[in-house]
Amino acid sequence: MQLTKNLTVVPVTEDDMLDDVAELHLDAFAGHLNTLLGRGYIRAFVKWFIRNKGTIVIAAIDENQKVVGYALGAPVGYSTRLNRDLCWNVAVRILTRPWLIFNARFWIVLVERIKSLIGLRQDAPQASELPGPSMSLVAIGVASAQRRNKIGQCLMHAIEGGARDFQMRSLVLSVYENATAARRFYEQCGWRPCSRATKNGDVLKYYRLLDGMQCVALSSEDVH
Ligand SMILES: CC(C)(COP(=O)(O)OP(=O)(O)OC[C@H]1O[C@@H](n2cnc3c(N)ncnc32)[C@H](O)[C@@H]1OP(=O)(O)O)[C@@H](O)C(=O)NCCC(=O)NCCS
Repeated sequence: MQLTKNLTVVPVTEDDMLDDVAELHLDAFAGHLNTLLGRGYIRAFVKWFIRNKGTIVIAAIDENQKVVGYALGAPVGYSTRLNRDLCWNVAVRILTRPWLIFNARFWIVLVERIKSLIGLRQDAPQASELPGPSMSLVAIGVASAQRRNKIGQCLMHAIEGGARDFQMRSLVLSVYENATAARRFYEQCGWRPCSRATKNGDVLKYYRLLDGMQCVALSSEDVH
């Protein structure tokens, strides 16, 4: 899909683009816990989405054929299967990076993953209040040197189009409360924060209704 003069959004395939997308992820999400697990983990993570049905894995390519952004979407409920399928991969990465145990977020994420694995945690606690089926925006990232050029907006537009193609009626995402830039971006793209009741620790849920759907159960109050 040709979106602007210099930007193209394409589906990511395993053969030719996986390494470039993993590289982009390491740059766009530098410092996030999953990048601390290393390039091998990020490759396996992205590959999991490419190989699973009903997902959206797209990359934004510039005029030099360079990957400058990417985004992932998957039907709500994906994370239990993802955590199960990648648990050994994660375990090996942790064993080879013992310093991670000193990272406070590591423990928070580990507990959440274990809860998800044993069925104590739902993907999106408020998903039942959204018009379904609902898709999670799992990740959206733009190369650090290329931000504020509307690449994120192009990717968001493509994710929403892809979700509609899958007959999705709503989108949901999680974002850290202190990620003010990302939250501003989501709000500019028409997303709204869910009510305070759906706040999980320092993570907020945002939602977006597709095709003018109404959702009375969710508050769109501003939680800034
Ligand atoms: C969030 C992110 C994807 C935005 O991508 P981007 O290509 O820079 O965003 P766009 O240029 O499309 O921005 C569209 C609008 O969103 C808002 N916005 C984007 N980045 C913003 C920032 N850092 N601060 C305030 N508002 C911002 C602005 O209103 C912007 O329009 P404007 O530039 O005309 O003011 C990018 O900053 C990023 O990759 N961040 C790191 C990864 C991340 O946090 N991802 C989200 C959590 S999964």
